[in-house]
Amino acid sequence: MKKLTRRQFAVLAGALALAGCGQARSADTDEAGAEAQDASQDEASASDAAEAAAQEAANSPAAEASAASSNALVLVYSRAGENYRVGTVETGNTMVLAQMIAERTGADLFELEPVVAYPASYDECIDVASQEKSDGARPELKALPDLGGYDTVFFGFPCWWGDLPMCVYTAIEALTWEGKTIHPFNTHEGSGESGMFSTLAATCTGSSVTEGLTMTGSTAQNEREEAASQVEAWLAGLGY
Ligand SMILES: Cc1cc2nc3c(=O)[nH]c(=O)nc-3n(C[C@H](O)[C@H](O)[C@H](O)COP(=O)(O)O)c2cc1C
Repeated sequence: MKKLTRRQFAVLAGALALAGCGQARSADTDEAGAEAQDASQDEASASDAAEAAAQEAANSPAAEASAASSNALVLVYSRAGENYRVGTVETGNTMVLAQMIAERTGADLFELEPVVAYPASYDECIDVASQEKSDGARPELKALPDLGGYDTVFFGFPCWWGDLPMCVYTAIEALTWEGKTIHPFNTHEGSGESGMFSTLAATCTGSSVTEGLTMTGSTAQNEREEAASQVEAWLAGLGY
């Protein structure tokens, strides 16, 4: 059975609460027949109410977001450790956005993790990343998501040397993108999206790539309210 997202669960629970399910009913009529009739009318009206409440819940904005995201995945590569302009962080800049998107939409989140982690030191990491880029390396990943159950992928990554980190190409080339809608997002410290969203359109064969979200890593990390409002505006533009 498919696991309900938190939002779907909330919608279902709301529908049940609106319908009065779970509430005790007091029936103290004298005649058994009248009681039975009452009970059956109550059952019918509880069922009508449940149906109406479910319908109402299904039409609510929360349910729309839930329906839209029920088969969405947030797929992200992000590096914790020492980074440019933010110092040493426990949660990478792009991951901050990924978590906001997952929280806001109810989508599942999958983090891409290289088997050999990139160095926590910024200077060491830029050397490794530069070497990988000139080698066209495809660093092995610990695991890949099964995209089979998803038709929408929020795909997030940082800008490294004006490009996607090479480990993101590993995932792109290993996965099947036919028919998927990709909503890309990235963080950077000056290069913007640097053509990476077009790169996705060219390399994620058969997908359609929508307008993306681009933000500086320092905004994502250090200005959470601003970051959240940009995420919110972007998601709203995508119909969430
Ligand atoms: C190896 C490496 C290369 C980077 N290259 C660029 C770059 O070319 N342009 C840029 O604007 N930022 C660059 N940055 C900065 C990152 O894009 C930025 O700090 C980003 O927010 C990091 O995201 P993360 O914390 O999710 O990994 C680079 C950072 C690293 C570690």
